[in-house]
Amino acid sequence: MAEIKRVGVIGGGLMGHGIAQVSATAGYDVVLREVDQGAIDKCMGKIQKQLARAVEKGKSTQEDADAILARITTTSDYGELADCDLVIEAISESLPAKLEMWKEVDAIVKPEAFFASNTSSLAIIDQAAQTSRPERFLGLHYFNPAQVMKLVEVIRAVTTSDEAFEAGLEFARSQKKLAIPTKDKAGFIVNRLLVPYMLDAIRAYEEGVGSVDEIDDAMKAGAGHPMGPLTLADFVGLDTMGSICDVLFDEFRERRFAQPPTLRKMLSAGWYGRKTGKGFYDYSGESPVPNPGI
Ligand code: 3HC
Repeated sequence: MAEIKRVGVIGGGLMGHGIAQVSATAGYDVVLREVDQGAIDKCMGKIQKQLARAVEKGKSTQEDADAILARITTTSDYGELADCDLVIEAISESLPAKLEMWKEVDAIVKPEAFFASNTSSLAIIDQAAQTSRPERFLGLHYFNPAQVMKLVEVIRAVTTSDEAFEAGLEFARSQKKLAIPTKDKAGFIVNRLLVPYMLDAIRAYEEGVGSVDEIDDAMKAGAGHPMGPLTLADFVGLDTMGSICDVLFDEFRERRFAQPPTLRKMLSAGWYGRKTGKGFYDYSGESPVPNPGI
């Protein structure tokens, strides 16, 4: 089987920076591509902060943290990905944007390399089939924060070869993740179940079943969840949630996947959750408070 040594990560946002960090921690050389130096600095800043915190807590040595950082190179040029053995995309959840990106990357990266998408919901075949290597294309779906969450869904498109699928499973396991194979059905396992749950929490709020913090506190105390559903929606990013809803609704045409009006309005307002400082909660103060604007 082709050995993976050098990993390209496209997109250094919420998911991409975590995927780059766990890959470098597992010993891979990582080439991280972002659009410009500002985005690269932001991404590397997050990784440095996480590594520094691990050293502070005694969970890592300074030497190990330095070695992890040294394994990550950054670029805004797709050309630097040419000799990667695996390229993982973690850009925004938009099929046209992903296809445009793959068109460029496919022409540059060596033909024997594997391609993987970290899409939250889009069927893998819709990307795979648009590249010159549909048999070497698979899904590797990480969860936020990728440094902490154990799971990677390894998704096999109808075109994915045994070799590529096995390489994906092996890659996730080498990062000490639990690799669960899933079929190429929109939303895969987790988001198919988790997204309707978060949407139901929004509907419960709309119907006045409870306030934002009551709904969250109830699910934490009553169901043992680490975060309530509305905190989690802010954490995932309401823009990402909205895109996932649209994909799932298009695919299944079921009301449970439709964007509730509150979510739609929040997206129009540019309230994308934690990343923009406002979502179901307002994050501008010491600790989050329910957003009075919703
Ligand atoms: N990045 C990296 N590490 C982080 C982190 C982050 N953003 N947030 C927390 N951590 C680490 C901390 O450093 C700490 O590490 P340590 O145990 O080595 O000290 C550990 O996680 C626990 O953190 P805290 O003690 O600060 O806080 P919590 O115990 O509350 O845990 C949490 C934080 C792990 C985020 C927890 O609240 C949780 O599990 N929340 C649910 C997350 C979840 O459901 N994610 C999936 C979302 S769906 C998804 O991603 C799919 C996508 O397609 C939409």
